[in-house]
Amino acid sequence: MNARRLGPTDIEISPIGLGCLQFAGSGRLASLGARPIDQPTVDAVVGAALDAGVTWFDTAEGYGRGHSERALTSALTARGVPPGGATIATKWTPTGRTAGHLRRSIGDRLDHLQGHPVDLYQIHEPYSSLSSVPAQLRAMAALHHAGAVRAVGVSNFNARRMTTAYETLRAEGVPLASNQVQINLLHRGIEHSGVLDTARRLGVTLIAYSPLAGGILTGRYHDDPAQVATVPKGRRWTGRGAYGTAGLARTRPLIDALRTVAEAHDATVAQVALAWLVTYYGDTVVAIPGASRPAQATELAGAMRVTLTDAEVGRIDAISRRLA
Ligand SMILES: NC(=O)c1ccc[n+]([C@@H]2O[C@H](COP(=O)([O-])OP(=O)(O)OC[C@H]3O[C@@H](n4cnc5c(N)ncnc54)[C@H](OP(=O)(O)O)[C@@H]3O)[C@@H](O)[C@H]2O)c1
Repeated sequence: MNARRLGPTDIEISPIGLGCLQFAGSGRLASLGARPIDQPTVDAVVGAALDAGVTWFDTAEGYGRGHSERALTSALTARGVPPGGATIATKWTPTGRTAGHLRRSIGDRLDHLQGHPVDLYQIHEPYSSLSSVPAQLRAMAALHHAGAVRAVGVSNFNARRMTTAYETLRAEGVPLASNQVQINLLHRGIEHSGVLDTARRLGVTLIAYSPLAGGILTGRYHDDPAQVATVPKGRRWTGRGAYGTAGLARTRPLIDALRTVAEAHDATVAQVALAWLVTYYGDTVVAIPGASRPAQATELAGAMRVTLTDAEVGRIDAISRRLA
């Protein structure tokens, strides 16, 4: 699969990046819903992703207060990747803070990234800052103009807030690069909420988080329901009963359809779920699956080698539509 451009910027990224919530460290993992992994495992996961063609990584201040940023860049350095050798997206946590905090804390972000640059700086969510969305975006634009961040994005913004962000940045001469939102075969809200149409109209990339629905779309829990007992408590899909007996029965037809397509491509269920995501929505959507083991990262990046036919995309679409 060809590289994609991040919104209207000159940054090129692989259609599949690697989500780094999994590198948050044990302190905050319970609430974030990831399994604890040590630094040698992070090194191996990042190395496997790079080897399989992943060119970018999504982390956040909120993933262990800089722990994930530090673990990621330690792994890149251990692999001999110099600053600028991989694209790094991180996020600012707005909770209880004013827009002025963006300027005051950029040094912390760069410190945690250990010499690697911020290629994309995202506002993690629009709900909890003490400042307005326009004030936050003006502060982001100032960071861009100061050369501290290469591109500016948002996350969890609805269509209206996304348009406000776009217009505020445009007035400052800065493009809105991306909006990171949940998109997967069981969660297609962007199609009804106006987020997809707005992204296409404005030329903004949508970064799909939880693209495997937290692992449900790998089929592992359908194959072996006993694994459900090992799912970290904070994982977001638990709340929707997706891991329960009824939830797994409901989604089984989709997993079966993904498996049929996977067999035709000598691929896996997870790879077809990801390939569908970065094919069905055209160039607008890129995906950042998470991995807690190197073999998972290799498999996920392998989705970029799966070319689905129009008929396969349509078949998966039809079944997913009944569930999403
Ligand atoms: N902006 C936001 O608000 C927001 C919110 C959530 C996530 N994110 C971002 O999105 C990224 C991904 O989201 P996510 O971690 O919630 O969900 P996800 O990517 O849908 O699922 C990741 C989990 O799926 C399992 N998995 C991955 N590959 C597998 C394979 N080949 N075989 C079997 N299981 C496999 C792993 O579970 P185990 O580790 O349990 O084995 C992995 O941790 C995060 O890392 C983060 O960067 C952003």
